[in-house]
Amino acid sequence: MAVLEILTYPDDRLRQVSEPVKQFDAALQGCIDDLEETRLAGPGAVGIAAAQVAWFQRVLIVDVSGRKKTGNHGHLILVNPEITEWDGFAIGREGCLSVPDYTGNVVRAERIQLDALDRDGNALCFDMEGFEARAVQHEMDHLDGLLFLDRLVSRRQDLFQRKVYK
Ligand code: NI
Repeated sequence: MAVLEILTYPDDRLRQVSEPVKQFDAALQGCIDDLEETRLAGPGAVGIAAAQVAWFQRVLIVDVSGRKKTGNHGHLILVNPEITEWDGFAIGREGCLSVPDYTGNVVRAERIQLDALDRDGNALCFDMEGFEARAVQHEMDHLDGLLFLDRLVSRRQDLFQRKVYK
């Protein structure tokens, strides 16, 4: 396994749209393991998308179980995720390993229904809400070349400089 370099804003590669995974082979498993090791090597990010390490396939990892008082499905490896239903809107603060110096307030759907595949290609379906739903929406944006910076209502009012990433 290996800790990979994380692309940071304004690297153009963060704008690339990722391709669906077609083969659930050993190479995929190795890439997923590297992605997870990279997530854990950093400052405790709740999620990471493959595109952030210049691997442009539709894979992401989300785990908000370390956050208290938020419903969640534990540690999730999501391949080719698709949101099939949205409900409600909520504003919340987001950070990103690719934008290490800032956090921002972003509007997201409050509840989502999500279809995805696991790392072996088995179908998954989740009803998610709150912070977990937010984290998944944030990571899915990376697969389409979007950053939370693109979703701020106001750069002047909704962007905040970080003192330390934690
Ligand atoms: Ni991010």
